[in-house]
Amino acid sequence: MSDIDKYLEAEGGRFEDELCSFLRIPSISADPRRIRDMHKAAEWLAGQFRGLGFDTEVVATEGHPLVYGESPRIEDAPTALVYGHYDVQPPEPLELWTSPPFEPTKREGNLYARGATDDKGQLFTHVKSAEAWIRVEGRLPINLKFLIEGEEEVGSENVEKFIAENPQRLACDCVVVSDSAQLAPGMPAITYGLRGIVYYELRLTGPNRDLHSGSFGGSIANPANALAGMLAKLVDDRGRVLIPGFYDDVVPLTDQEREQFAALPFDEKEYLEQIGVDTASGEQGYSTLERRWVRPTYDVSGLWGGYQGEGAKTVLPSTAGAKFSFRLVPNQDPEKITEALKTVLARWCPPGIKMELVVHHGGPGVLVPLDSPYVEAAAVAIEHAFGRRPYFAREGGSIPIVATLHNTLQADTLLLGWGQNDDNTHSPNEKFCLADFHLAIKASARLWAELAKK
Ligand code: BES
Ligand code: MN
Ligand code: MN
Repeated sequence: MSDIDKYLEAEGGRFEDELCSFLRIPSISADPRRIRDMHKAAEWLAGQFRGLGFDTEVVATEGHPLVYGESPRIEDAPTALVYGHYDVQPPEPLELWTSPPFEPTKREGNLYARGATDDKGQLFTHVKSAEAWIRVEGRLPINLKFLIEGEEEVGSENVEKFIAENPQRLACDCVVVSDSAQLAPGMPAITYGLRGIVYYELRLTGPNRDLHSGSFGGSIANPANALAGMLAKLVDDRGRVLIPGFYDDVVPLTDQEREQFAALPFDEKEYLEQIGVDTASGEQGYSTLERRWVRPTYDVSGLWGGYQGEGAKTVLPSTAGAKFSFRLVPNQDPEKITEALKTVLARWCPPGIKMELVVHHGGPGVLVPLDSPYVEAAAVAIEHAFGRRPYFAREGGSIPIVATLHNTLQADTLLLGWGQNDDNTHSPNEKFCLADFHLAIKASARLWAELAKK
């Protein structure tokens, strides 16, 4: 066993304790009442980098701060940039958590807390692997830069600006992101595709106040009816989005990729059982993995309007609204989709209803080339720790900044997801498997050595 691996074994318990301290800080980026905790989390992380002797800065932005740390420069070695996010999703509904979201708790080999896997636990693996090198060897074998933002869950606007303004400072040979999942327990994976996303809020207004639905109904347009109609028109009963041009830039699946997906050990029955539904659903003509990874989607995430209380209230509401998004696949352009959406909504909005469309956040999908030497380095590192070569898989989720990093820095991207699909990200009882946490640190430590050879 190498000295580094011995160090990781000896210090593993402390790594868990430190992660728990990080997880106790409720760094909820969407919640304005948590601004102090955002700073606290950023400072906590900066303290980790300073402890490693990194050149460290907590960078103030118009929103939440980002944390930047850079290892002492060594010449003639490649540079890796680790991206991650210390912000977390709101924990509600609280009553569905078995243990409180910001009191990290170990149960059955998992650590339960908001942010455990998304993304504090995952990003922390790279901090601890750097620590092992520095404590055991006195230095890292490569140059490491860490860019950890606090606004990933709310659109990454300010890190976008930071990247645009600091390309020299961030210059690197490859970008490493651990913010996705393995294929299944015991099946580590390198992710080579992410979907993009565009997220909207549609607000409809009819009469200037709620009305008696008997006195007025039938003569005045009802925004809740209009909302239901407009949302329903966006998709047909075969799961196809009905915006003209929506599929124009979608790259068709190759037979080879279809075969590769079909050959992956994906257990659909178990997937459905976990979620508690008896059948899969979606765009006709595609398998479940294809629907999740390579086809665009339309999902309503919330809708409101009219009476929600007990019993029946005969009312024609004044307003109604919805939040919805499209997941996009690589090569689809979020702005083009938004323009096309505006056109159809304007056409479908009935007379007597005023419409407002707010465009929240978005970003394009990405495809990572697999023929990069860095991918092979990552595969070797993962095999060293997990005992088997990784699968190559795509993901349905989005990390909008990955495309920006790739385009601005012209560096290959390694998406090394350490989580599991049943980690309950964005849900109650989020968890991270502690065995995976330690294997991931081990893989990360080896990755730095493998990258040094490239
Ligand atoms: N870590 C996720 C993205 C992710 C989820 C990747 C599952 C792979 C598998 C990230 O924190 C996230 O939640 N992203 C948002 C982006 C949005 C807020 C712009 C998403 O995918 O909804
Ligand atoms: Mn994440
Ligand atoms: Mn997330």
